[in-house]
Amino acid sequence: MTKLKVAVIGAGSISDAHLTSYMEHPEVELYGIVDMNEERARAAVQKYGAKVAFTDYREMLADPQVEAVSICTWNNTHGALSIAALEAGKHVLCEKPLCTTVEEALLVEEAVRRSGKLLMVGFVRRFGTNAQVLRRFIDAGDLGEVYYAKASYLRRLGNPGGWFADKERAGGGPLFDIGIHVIDLCWYLMGRPKVKSVSGNTYKKLGNRSHIKNLTFYKAADYDASQNTVEDMANALIRFENGASLMVDVSFTLHAKMKNEFAVKIFGDRGGAEIEPDFCIVSEKHDTIINVTPQIDHPSFEFMDGFRNEIDHFVQACLGRQEVISPVGDGVELTKILCAIYESSEKGIEIQFG
Ligand SMILES: NC(=O)c1ccc[n+]([C@@H]2O[C@H](COP(=O)([O-])OP(=O)(O)OC[C@H]3O[C@@H](n4cnc5c(N)ncnc54)[C@H](O)[C@@H]3O)[C@@H](O)[C@H]2O)c1
Repeated sequence: MTKLKVAVIGAGSISDAHLTSYMEHPEVELYGIVDMNEERARAAVQKYGAKVAFTDYREMLADPQVEAVSICTWNNTHGALSIAALEAGKHVLCEKPLCTTVEEALLVEEAVRRSGKLLMVGFVRRFGTNAQVLRRFIDAGDLGEVYYAKASYLRRLGNPGGWFADKERAGGGPLFDIGIHVIDLCWYLMGRPKVKSVSGNTYKKLGNRSHIKNLTFYKAADYDASQNTVEDMANALIRFENGASLMVDVSFTLHAKMKNEFAVKIFGDRGGAEIEPDFCIVSEKHDTIINVTPQIDHPSFEFMDGFRNEIDHFVQACLGRQEVISPVGDGVELTKILCAIYESSEKGIEIQFG
């Protein structure tokens, strides 16, 4: 059996989910790992049994052995790395977000068209078993016409610092890091309707709350609390051309009672669903409201389950067996939505989409 030769760019935190999934995949040969931090690249090659460690992605892209790459670097590098990889004839799995600006996202889309290679955006929540099961119910009409969705991803203390807190490298704060996941999941389950307008607010009131004692929270590998140029929290109302709407709020820091609030809900005219935190499908039968609990191994999003599904989907697409369910165009659309939320907040107006 010929195996797909893969390289991963960026050997930081999230690379473990990509590298483990590739390493375990029977149709993949994990060939190269790139990180500008040489020690990190070498350690990863050792740990995951890859062949070559690189510190310069251009060197890896020039290697004809490599057929497909995962991009797991800072958000502001995704655009340039994707274009370079496509131009070098590689298929690309790009971590979210596709880009930090709409202009760059459109350039990536153009590069996909030019190269004839595929680019999949790592919208991993779509690949959770709960999302895939719900998708089947929605496609079969069980929820009827979906007209409203509501998502919250609120951390009361969880600014990871480092590049995550640097607007230049991250593109934004919780909106770009965690908001994108829930906005995308709702939009995908709603059938990816065309956006009509976006109204948003972003706040910088609390800062990173790095003074808080006796509570641990996720920190970036290169944690630095002294710099923070991103928002603490954001909310938005997104209207769609088909009349549907989506409400969302996200935070890195907030005076919230709960440590984390993670909730994703979809409402249609025949039924509704809560995908997170507990998967449940709601409808009525014989004049009675019923809550149905699907019996599946992972009723909530399970990290490695989602990544294994995502990586397998990418591999199957590279081998020409299926179309990607999160193509470059979806990455462009999400970039437009996120950027419009910031623009709306800055200008204090609703942003209309053409
Ligand atoms: N899908 C998810 O659930 C999820 C979760 C976490 C992070 N992410 C995404 O993954 C990406 C990486 O996040 P992370 O948490 O792993 O960050 P990280 O800081 O832990 O790792 C990033 C790595 O990329 C390397 N790097 C940066 N630019 C490079 C370049 N030009 N060439 C070579 N190496 C380079 C850094 O040295 C670092 O080792 C981000 O885009 C983030 O949004 C996705």
